[in-house]
Amino acid sequence: MATAARPVSTQTPNDLSAFWMPFTANRAFKKNPRMIARAKGLYYYTPEGKQVIDAAAGLWCVNAGHGHDRIVAAIQAQAAELDFAPTFQYAHPQAFTLATRIAELTPGDLNCVFFANSGSESVDTALKMALAYWKARGQGSKTRFIGRERGYHGVGFGGISVGGMVANRKQFGNMLSGVDHLPHTYNRAEQGFTKGQPAWGGHLAEELERLIQLHDASTIAAVIVEPMAGSTGVLPPPVGYLEKLRAICDRNDILLIFDEVITGFGRLGTPFASQRFNVIPDLFTFAKGVTSGTVPMGGVVARQFIHDAMMNGPEHLIEFFHGYTYSAHPLACAAALATLDVYRDEKLFENAKTLETVWADTLYAAIKGLPNVLDMRQIGLTCAIDLSSRPDAVGKRAFEAMEKGFHDNGIAIRISGETLAITPPLTLTTAHIDEITEKMVKTIKAVA
Ligand SMILES: Cc1ncc(COP(=O)(O)O)c(C=O)c1O
Repeated sequence: MATAARPVSTQTPNDLSAFWMPFTANRAFKKNPRMIARAKGLYYYTPEGKQVIDAAAGLWCVNAGHGHDRIVAAIQAQAAELDFAPTFQYAHPQAFTLATRIAELTPGDLNCVFFANSGSESVDTALKMALAYWKARGQGSKTRFIGRERGYHGVGFGGISVGGMVANRKQFGNMLSGVDHLPHTYNRAEQGFTKGQPAWGGHLAEELERLIQLHDASTIAAVIVEPMAGSTGVLPPPVGYLEKLRAICDRNDILLIFDEVITGFGRLGTPFASQRFNVIPDLFTFAKGVTSGTVPMGGVVARQFIHDAMMNGPEHLIEFFHGYTYSAHPLACAAALATLDVYRDEKLFENAKTLETVWADTLYAAIKGLPNVLDMRQIGLTCAIDLSSRPDAVGKRAFEAMEKGFHDNGIAIRISGETLAITPPLTLTTAHIDEITEKMVKTIKAVA
C-alpha cells in the first residue's frame, strides 16, 4: 500500500476520537482537522505535503525555526549518550553547564536557575519559591499573591489563581485563596493602533498601592505579571508601568516575579523582557524558547539573595522541597545548549530587534483599515489584531480566520477570543514578513 512506505509521522490517522485535545474546540477540529506532519524552518507541511507558514512559532516557542540541524543533532547524540539521570541528589554535567549559560544571559544577580518542564510548572515553582523565601526569612505571614486581570500563567492551580483569563478560571472552582488582581492595562480608546509600548496606562501600576492598603504588605509574598501579556492578545506594558511596579514592590518588601515564558529568549529583541524594559524582577520564569520548543523544558531564575536565604540548616538536609522527575532532563539540556548556541551564532535576538520596525510597519500598513479590524498591537516580533465579533457568535470570526488561514491560505496563527496573534520564529526574513502580511490580508478579507 502506498501509505505503508511513508514515515509514521506523515500518516493521517483514521480515528481521531481517542485524543482529547488540549485548548481545542475538539468537535470542530475533528470535523475539519488542521493536521501537521512535518516542519522545517518557518514552514509546516500537511500530510498531503501542502506548505503552511508557521506565523506563530508553534505556540510562541520555536524561536530558532523548525528542525534546526544543530539542535536535532544535539538531541540525537544526547539520547545515545545519556537518556536519563536524576537530578534529585544526583546530577549530570549538562544541567550545570546550561544553568550557567542561562545565568550569563540574565541581568543583575539573577544567578540561580531551577529547572521544570513547562511554563505552568515554572509558575508554580516561582510561587513556591516566594513562599519558601519568606518562611526562611521568618516572615511566614507573607503568603498572598497579586496577579493581574488578563494575565496568563499556565494551567496549574497556582497559575490559574494568579492568572486573569476568565475562561481559564471559571470551570475550576475556588483555586488558591489569598490572591488578588491588578487591573489589566488595555484601553482601546487611549491606546488604539499603538506600535510598541503605549504612552497611556503607566498610572495603573499605582493600583498596587491600593491592594497593599487593603491587605497590608505583611501578608503579601509577591506580585506576578507577564512583562508583556501574551496569550490574552499581546498587551505591551504602558510606558513607566513596570518601573512603577518595581518601585512599589521595593518600598513594601514584596517580591516581583516576571513570567517570561513567552518573552524569554529573544521574542522582544533582547534575551529577556527585563532587559528590553530595563526592570529587574526578583524571580522570573522561562520555558518555550529555551529549547526552541524541541524538548519540553522550563524553569525559574532567582536572584542570589532568594537562593541564599534558603541555604541554611544542616547540610545533609534538602533546602527546598520541590522538583520534578524530569527537572533538567538530559535531552532538554542538550536541546537547550544547542539552541542557545544557535541564538548566539545566528544572532537571532539581534535579528528580532533589526526586523521589528519593518515587521510592524508592513503589517500595520496592510491590515489597519481592513474590514472588522478594531485594533492592532505590536512589540518585538509579536502582533495582535482584534476583529469585531459576528453579531451572533463571539470568537467565531477569529476561529474562521484560523481555519481559512490554514486550509485556504497556507498560514498558521494563534487565536484568543476575537484576537489573531502572529509571533513568527526569530529566523524571520523580510520575504517572510511579506508572505505573512499577504496571507493575513487575504485571511482577514475572507472572514469579512
Ligand atoms: C506567560 C506564560 N506563562 C505560562 C505559560 C504556560 O506554559 P505551558 O503551556 O508550557 O505550561 C504560558 C504559555 O503560553 C505563558 O504564555
